[in-house]
Amino acid sequence: MTRDVNWPFSPGRSINIVNTEGVYLYTDDGQRLLDAAGGAIVVNVGHGLARVADRVAEATLQTTYVVPPWLTPGRERLANTLTDDWLPQRLSRIHMTSGGSEAVESAIKIALQYHAARGDHARTRILGREISYHGTTLVTMAAGGHEGRKKGFTHALKQSFDTYPKAPTPYPLRCPLGSHHPDAGAHYIDATRAVFEAVGAQTIAAFVAEPITGSSGGAIVPPDGYWEGIRALCDEFGVLLIMDEVMTGFGRTGLPFGYQHWDIEPDILVSGKGLAGGYAPLGGVFTREDIGQALDDGGMNVMFHTFGAHPAACAAAAEVLTIMSEDGLVERARTLGEKLERRLNDAFSNHPYVAEVRGRGLLQAIELVEDRDTLEPFAAERNITNRVVGAGLKRGVFFYGGGTGVVRDIVCMGPPFIITEAEIDFMVDTLSAAVDQGTGG
Ligand SMILES: Cc1ncc(COP(=O)(O)O)c(C=O)c1O
Repeated sequence: MTRDVNWPFSPGRSINIVNTEGVYLYTDDGQRLLDAAGGAIVVNVGHGLARVADRVAEATLQTTYVVPPWLTPGRERLANTLTDDWLPQRLSRIHMTSGGSEAVESAIKIALQYHAARGDHARTRILGREISYHGTTLVTMAAGGHEGRKKGFTHALKQSFDTYPKAPTPYPLRCPLGSHHPDAGAHYIDATRAVFEAVGAQTIAAFVAEPITGSSGGAIVPPDGYWEGIRALCDEFGVLLIMDEVMTGFGRTGLPFGYQHWDIEPDILVSGKGLAGGYAPLGGVFTREDIGQALDDGGMNVMFHTFGAHPAACAAAAEVLTIMSEDGLVERARTLGEKLERRLNDAFSNHPYVAEVRGRGLLQAIELVEDRDTLEPFAAERNITNRVVGAGLKRGVFFYGGGTGVVRDIVCMGPPFIITEAEIDFMVDTLSAAVDQGTGG
């Protein structure tokens, strides 16, 4: 790259990837990296599939760009695939964006419009959770709980803290009642009810949350009963439940959607990342007919982003989702996820610096701590996550660093669903060595 170009924006260590194939990334200096992170927990069917690239090329030639509300063959195919094979029947209204942040923001806007359309102008608050990530726009950042990504913004977000209150994220390891306490579910439901009451439940438009907290918390699976209790709470107070499945959606956790691990259904479901498997930028918002109808009756529009539902991206997504169905990749994510979790537990259950292994399907993480008994984290200055990720790269595996700055140290895994058992073994062996190197000295 020429000297004058400042890209990436901030100087630092950037890696030059010149080829990607299957579960591997290849650098310009000839190193092969196992993509244990699927990029940013995105790639599911694997890198470099010609059959997806062919659909993208076809769509580009056939309908290069068409305004988002109109149909194209690629969009129609995606809509059919989604409704026939993936979405719950009741979530029949579809709005496509060009990424996860746009999709979460659209979902929040739909919730606000829904209440306004019904004459309820008091519901202006969006309740989020203390440890979470919902995107990089100002609204999704404010609704989220990723302190590290709010650096340089908190002064400007001050007024908005009132608009975006936070409930605690269910965190079984660190439950105030005790680690993995049997009443953890009830504890976090009560704590959420207390926030509803403190801010005034009648002022909350929506509760936005990830079913399994993604990289901000490190694949935190809520305790039993939590989601059923939260669903009931939202119903009791007329609050819409927005499920942010940008990271967990489309098979990542071993079921089509993360919320399906429990007996609940969201009012608005949000997706991104794996929807198009990394072949194109795409996000999706799916909601009920009556919510869409309320907006229609109120003369309200869900404004599109110019590149939302891009014809080539929709064609890519339709093909990726078809491959996942044909090859049984969601089931594969479930069984390989169990294998990965077992192997991680074998490697780390007695490790002095690993507090726990957690996750579902092929979204797994480890949490590193200075003291396993007290769960005291390492000092932030020690940069443990970065050191472990760096040590992994040197050994040929790309792990995904997680945490929020406040929550640390987290190493996430989210490999493509086509990874083999032997590659999983290599991944875990490498993580073991990387943790030892990263926490040593
Ligand atoms: C749960 C969750 N929501 C939203 C987003 C934002 O998506 P995007 O980066 O595509 O805008 C992310 C991205 O990491 C995410 O993990």
